[in-house]
Amino acid sequence: MLIHHIHFLYVIMSLHIVILAAGAGTRMHSTQPKVLHQVGGKPMLEHVLNTATQLNPEQIHIVMGHGAPLLQQHFADFPVNWVLQSEQLGTGHALKQALPHIPTQATVLVLYGDVPLIQKTTLIPLIDTCIKTKTLGLLTVHLDNPFGFGRIVRDQFSHIRAIVEEKDATESEKHIQEVYSGICCVSAEYLNHWLPNLTPKNAQKEYYLTEIVPFAIQDDVAIFSHLAQDSLEVQGVNDRLQLQLVERGLQKRQAEQLMKIGVTLADANRIDIRGEIHCGRDVFIDINTLFEGKVTLGDQSVIGANCILKNVQIGKNCLIHPNTIMEDCVLDDHCTIGPFARIRPGTRLAAQCKIGNFVEAKNAVLGCHTKANHLSYLGDVTIGSEVNIGAGTIICNYDGANKHHTIIEDEVHIGSDTQLIAPVTIGKRATIGAGSTIRQNVPPGELTLTASTQKTVYGWKRPEKKKVE
Ligand code: UD1
Ligand code: CA
Repeated sequence: MLIHHIHFLYVIMSLHIVILAAGAGTRMHSTQPKVLHQVGGKPMLEHVLNTATQLNPEQIHIVMGHGAPLLQQHFADFPVNWVLQSEQLGTGHALKQALPHIPTQATVLVLYGDVPLIQKTTLIPLIDTCIKTKTLGLLTVHLDNPFGFGRIVRDQFSHIRAIVEEKDATESEKHIQEVYSGICCVSAEYLNHWLPNLTPKNAQKEYYLTEIVPFAIQDDVAIFSHLAQDSLEVQGVNDRLQLQLVERGLQKRQAEQLMKIGVTLADANRIDIRGEIHCGRDVFIDINTLFEGKVTLGDQSVIGANCILKNVQIGKNCLIHPNTIMEDCVLDDHCTIGPFARIRPGTRLAAQCKIGNFVEAKNAVLGCHTKANHLSYLGDVTIGSEVNIGAGTIICNYDGANKHHTIIEDEVHIGSDTQLIAPVTIGKRATIGAGSTIRQNVPPGELTLTASTQKTVYGWKRPEKKKVE
């Protein structure tokens, strides 16, 4: 037991992960480094880094080349060891640059920065077997169309003999559908022996990492393969078509995860999650919905069609009607929003609030049971509970130079077509007459209005359209 335990610790401590990310990404036709292109709202490299981190390695190394300063800047908060490969001479050459930073007794897992959807569960068996048997582990996959990939060549005993690149493959090798994912696991000790001996004797004149296979055979190091079940996990991104393929794949995977935990989706193909979403039970999400950043939806909440929610926290039993846009806001239970509402950053709604159509709220804090059902702007305002904001109420928070705050106390009724010129306080239970322009504080409990007298101009004639001769 003790020995097993020590072995386990040793295993955990000595895993080093190298992420290859130096390639130019020419086929992206982009000014941006390839691995910064986003999938599901996150750079591809971030997905790989997250998965790598979940494996608790002793160290993560990133081999960078093209756009190196941009990468380092972007991932400044990640505890990784950056390794520069100043000339891109091939995958073998890339890995060799990281070797001096890896202790000999370590196990090395190679990942690609442009293979973003690889999952921890697929990598663990590869790493485990590699460590236990001290062999060379290759992650492979069966593809209907293996074009462009390194083919896994096996002998009559089904032992792996070689990985042959597309450009070096014979006609018969090109028919092999088992391909190399680019992901492998092997001890650093072997790499120290093999990598210095790689030669660029191939069609692309590169130092292929795949050429360690013949070295392993030579040194009697067994080679095993772990077959990835889902080709999406090993799908690489070389151009924007593959980027889109990976994006749709991730979206499908995320949608399935939501349904598995009890969310109803009107159409699993018409929801996009660019970030993280956490849902309670019996949430319903309608078509064409976009979730960005960190979104939480409480039990029984309903998100209508065409809504965009970014960094939003929604309580239980909330109803978000179609075409609502929300960002950086928090809603308590039983709130109703929209249709066509825009809830901007800093807005917090207590339970049972109602925000109706064509209402914009920004930095607005509303108490419970407060309603603004139609055509209003609520900016920089604290509103109490049980307040009714009439149609067409505008909070004039901006004097042209500075923003000011408005306070509306509990149980206030604001008549329609009212302007509140900030800063102003409306006292508790006050009523504001329709069509008022409020520039001074309003006492509690009274009716306040800025009435203009109604008059009639008798005999007035409507202008008539001039006749064109
Ligand atoms: C590689 C494999 C191939 C496999 C395929 C899977 C080799 C020789 N071939 O081919 O068998 O089927 O991946 O996608 O390994 N990189 C560097 N520095 C370099 C070259 C590449 O960091 O000098 C990085 C790239 O940024 C990329 C990864 O390594 O993340 C793979 O490089 P790429 O040139 O795309 O390899 P493939 O030709 O696709
Ligand atoms: Ca590639």
